[in-house]
Amino acid sequence: MNTLVVMMSGCLVMVLCMAGLEAKCDLPPSLWCSSGDVAKQCGVYDQCRDTLRRDPNAGPVNLTLYMESLCPDCKNFFASQLYDTWVALGTSVLNLTLVPYGNARETKDGDKWKFECQHGEQECIGNLIETCAIAIIKDINIYFPFINCIESKNGMPEKDAETCAAKNKIDLEPIIQCANGPMGNDLEHQMALKTDALNPPHQYVPWVTVNGVHTEAMEKEAEQSLVTLICDTYKGPTPKKCLQLAEQRRSSRCYTN
Ligand SMILES: *[C@@H]1O[C@H](CO)[C@@H](O)[C@H](O)[C@H]1NC(C)=O
Ligand SMILES: *[C@@H]1O[C@H](CO)[C@@H](O)[C@H](O)[C@H]1NC(C)=O
Repeated sequence: MNTLVVMMSGCLVMVLCMAGLEAKCDLPPSLWCSSGDVAKQCGVYDQCRDTLRRDPNAGPVNLTLYMESLCPDCKNFFASQLYDTWVALGTSVLNLTLVPYGNARETKDGDKWKFECQHGEQECIGNLIETCAIAIIKDINIYFPFINCIESKNGMPEKDAETCAAKNKIDLEPIIQCANGPMGNDLEHQMALKTDALNPPHQYVPWVTVNGVHTEAMEKEAEQSLVTLICDTYKGPTPKKCLQLAEQRRSSRCYTN
């Protein structure tokens, strides 16, 4: 009985998939790998990936994350997608830029900027610490694990920064000095300008741009499977991790090659 149900639903899926293919792809199979768009239309994108022309000199995908330090969805994005993807693909495939400001607002106050953050004063402190860490440490291989560590905690940002600095062997002193002084104030203002320059303007955080572009579909995919989004966007020789991913997707599809 159960087997019969499974077989029947399997048939239904087959029929639906084949109907979907026929509706969109009316080219001879020899042309299915001629471009990424055609391959997608014909439902064979994964199978064609490696035949499609790759650019050996292609640079990494630019991924910019607009975020704020205490937002739960941002923390979740770090934990569920961002860190693992960055580790799996590396900086030659993924050029990550963090912009810790998000839904904050700034007003000019004498010769300084005054920031108001969505989740209160503590969030502003967290944004400043992260912004200063980026500017002072400079090497993303060192500051990103530190920032990721802060985002994985749920305490006061300065306290979490202490724990995470110790864990990652980072000298926190100059970062805190920066965060409390004019340097941090100016750097955070730069983050505000960057965020306010978004077009279209951000409506929520986390908000990503991929090679400078944001769409709803892209955001959704980033939050569901960032690694897939970056693999599909990267134009260089297919990274091993992306090949493995394509293999997994191929074996879970309902048509054969
Ligand atoms: C990485 O992104 C930064 C800006 O966010 C940019 O200045 C830099 O040129 C990018 N690097 C590469 C290799 O694309
Ligand atoms: C990434 O950004 C840099 C700096 O803006 C740019 O030169 C490069 O072409 C971008 N890379 C891609 C893949 O668009």
